[in-house]
Amino acid sequence: MREQVVCKKSDIEPGEMKKSTFGKQDVLICRTPDGEFYAFMNQCIHQGAPLDRGMICGATTEESEPGGYEYCHKGEIIRCPWHGREFDIKNEGRMLANPDKKIPSFKVRVEDEDVIVYK
Ligand code: FES
Repeated sequence: MREQVVCKKSDIEPGEMKKSTFGKQDVLICRTPDGEFYAFMNQCIHQGAPLDRGMICGATTEESEPGGYEYCHKGEIIRCPWHGREFDIKNEGRMLANPDKKIPSFKVRVEDEDVIVYK
């Protein structure tokens, strides 16, 4: 098994994300508002944008009216910086518009202050 410390817990506040590396691979470490950590390949599956340049946001609900937005899953959605595709952090990085597609992910565990990615 390959594993690596990718950052410290305190490096990422809940609801934020940060780029790191796992071996030669760029990875995106996300921390959801509940404090959990997740790791994904830092490359959009559409045309390869670096996802760390995007933002963590929420998803609009079906109750949203034209011109207004209702949000859910706040702090649990990665929005790609290039064309705005959105991925659900807590649902294996699946694309909201097409859940059959997802960003490759890595396993994560936390030991004391260390955030560790492993395969
Ligand atoms: S490269 Fe991410 S949505 Fe196009």
